Amino acid sequence: MAEKTATLKLPDGKTIDFPVHAGSTGPDVVDIRALYGKTGLFTYDPGFLSTASCSSSITYIDGDAGVLLYRGYPIEQLAQHCDFLEVCYLLLHGELPNRKQKEEFDGIVTHHTMVHEQLARLYQGFRRDAHPMAVMVGVVGALSAFYHDALDINDPAHRTISAFRLIAKMPTIVSMSYKYSIGQPFMYPRNDLSYTANFMRMMFGVPTEEYKVNKVLVRALDRIFILHADHEQNASTSTVRLAGSSGANPYACIAAGIACLWGPAHGGANEACLEMLEEIGDVSKVGEFIGKVKDKNSGVRLMGFGHRVYKNYDPRAKLMRETCHEVLNELGLHNDRLFKLALALEKIALEDDYFVSRKLYPNVDFYSGIVQRALGIPVAMFTCIFSLARTAGWIAQWQEMITDPEYKIGRPRQLYKGATERDVKPIDKR
Ligand code: CMC
Repeated sequence: MAEKTATLKLPDGKTIDFPVHAGSTGPDVVDIRALYGKTGLFTYDPGFLSTASCSSSITYIDGDAGVLLYRGYPIEQLAQHCDFLEVCYLLLHGELPNRKQKEEFDGIVTHHTMVHEQLARLYQGFRRDAHPMAVMVGVVGALSAFYHDALDINDPAHRTISAFRLIAKMPTIVSMSYKYSIGQPFMYPRNDLSYTANFMRMMFGVPTEEYKVNKVLVRALDRIFILHADHEQNASTSTVRLAGSSGANPYACIAAGIACLWGPAHGGANEACLEMLEEIGDVSKVGEFIGKVKDKNSGVRLMGFGHRVYKNYDPRAKLMRETCHEVLNELGLHNDRLFKLALALEKIALEDDYFVSRKLYPNVDFYSGIVQRALGIPVAMFTCIFSLARTAGWIAQWQEMITDPEYKIGRPRQLYKGATERDVKPIDKR
């Protein structure tokens, strides 16, 4: 069957045809790679509003329908039937593991959770009051200085061991960032605990006492990890791909992803959302706050609302809302002030024409901050938790890119609006 084409009419009246490729689902793409070569024109798309930067088989989002699939599986089913490491296996291998594959995978991850003792000493170089994300960017980037035995990105075995090391060591590195910030001793990982229970013990345990694992809370955090594991070509994933496209090592690429994730429009949103709730303070102030959000001159946004892709309820937000109820019930916090405030804010925003007409719905971060706060995770650690989970998606996307036959260094062009060529005058004549 002949491939579909799209025809572009140029300013001089000439036309040019471009092939249109179909994915397995979702919008077709116009392949404009030949545009510059044939016409001398670039496309202009700041923020990549209409640009597919790669082809991928990992994650699919239908933003209008509120659908999120990892390797074809709906996020709701994965959140219900799988644990985070099964989801990591799925993202990396394309299929869910059977029991034997899962045991093997879990075993390898478990046996890579320790970090080099010298890496632990690296933390001493950071100020105690540094933001944990600043520490994360530095420490994860530094992993490449510790594991240069396996940095050949063209060697599949090196790529696999790097993926295992990153997924396994992130909980250790995140919890060390926390312990360092509060001046408590680092906790070594324990191999008899699950991935998430081990992380919670490293975060909240102390050497003087036995840490008691609460299964409801472990399951809630594991769900947060699952919901944040991948999200298609978002800003941080695109950053990882772009950094990796030059052949940079995976630890450097993931550190770049962490830096991008830190921003309040991306992974920093749940931190910003909780700060916003604290600032509003009380249900009686919601109307006044919504008024500010609608005033374009105020620069205030309703954090945890809106998404570049979802123009419907974010499916992850629905699951997070459910988890929020479970955690608050388990901890006897159902009357939590901020949770009540969030519910009131959500109700008003979902009925207000400003939000309805712009299709602004709660995103995953609207509730994940409240859940994390209830689990005892300090606000400044929220984005670190996100980076731990997203490492699975970043490394899967990085692997996919390296093995893609169409893989090229990422090199966008620009619409130049600066000065045209001019002569430099000696300093006394300017
Ligand atoms: N509060 C108030 N107005 C908003 C909001 C918001 N949260 N989000 C978008 N708008 C308005 C915006 O002012 C614009 O209005 P108008 O058409 O009158 O100019 C319209 O909605 C479209 O906004 P946009 O900025 O063009 O949309 P975008 O796709 O570029 O931005 C976003 C997406 C997530 C950056 C934005 O919605 C936002 O800043 N939300 C708050 C931050 C947040 O919760 N981020 C977490 C995203 S989910 C986690 C993740 O995947 O990382």
